[in-house]
Amino acid sequence: MPTLEPPPLQMELPAVSFFGRTLDEYARFFALDPAQLRRRVVLDVAAGPSSFTAEASRRGIDAVAVDPLYDRAGPVLAEQVKHDYGRMFGQIRAKPQLFRLKSFESLAAAESDRRAAARWFLADYEGNTRHGRYVRGALPLLPFLDGAFDLVLCAHLLFIHAERFDFAWHVTACLELARVSGGEVRIHPLCGADGRPYAGLARLRRELATHGVRSEVREVDYEFFAGSNSMLVLNRHT
Ligand SMILES: C[S@@+](CC[C@H](N)C(=O)[O-])C[C@H]1O[C@@H](n2cnc3c(N)ncnc32)[C@H](O)[C@@H]1O
Repeated sequence: MPTLEPPPLQMELPAVSFFGRTLDEYARFFALDPAQLRRRVVLDVAAGPSSFTAEASRRGIDAVAVDPLYDRAGPVLAEQVKHDYGRMFGQIRAKPQLFRLKSFESLAAAESDRRAAARWFLADYEGNTRHGRYVRGALPLLPFLDGAFDLVLCAHLLFIHAERFDFAWHVTACLELARVSGGEVRIHPLCGADGRPYAGLARLRRELATHGVRSEVREVDYEFFAGSNSMLVLNRHT
């Protein structure tokens, strides 16, 4: 009798979760020094309930967050957080083999950090949508001018949802991130929901180069989801 291989262990991502991390965690997986970003204009794309923008604004960084759900009121987003955090942490607890305790001392510490991110986000969100800090928008088309930002960040949307967004979408999304950046774009992580590197990465980088976008893969001193120890850095050729 032939034996059946068990399916590879991976995170089940039936939808893109409204799930977010703190500025400290962004600083680690994007290798950023927040002090160097003071007075810089920084865009967080697919920001969700991350507290990066709320915390960065308090540190003198001119931060803007963009997400498709930012046309919703605070209480609606609070409900979304409750639902999506419950589902994500259920999976994290059920599949500890998919996680590395390099950047948090335990899965519980990671959970409490991400819950704090959502609380800080929700506290900042309601008053600031009107002032342009939280903007509704979705890749692959962002509502910003060419080169409007010194730095553009995008975490936990590209590559990890490769079954939902095809290769052509990834190319267009990267070109759009590069368009709105007057400096660098940083994208993290470079693996899929199973922790394996995104299969189309080399082809994507060749395609971007034909459009005048230079790319580099950099290792970072961070790993939580297994395989999440690198980022892609994009620069437009001048
Ligand atoms: C897992 S969260 C990541 C939040 C944050 N970047 C972080 O790493 O903590 C993914 C976010 O992507 C948003 N999203 C879904 N489709 C998108 C699209 N086409 N363009 C931009 N954001 C999108 C979702 O609403 C969700 O808030």
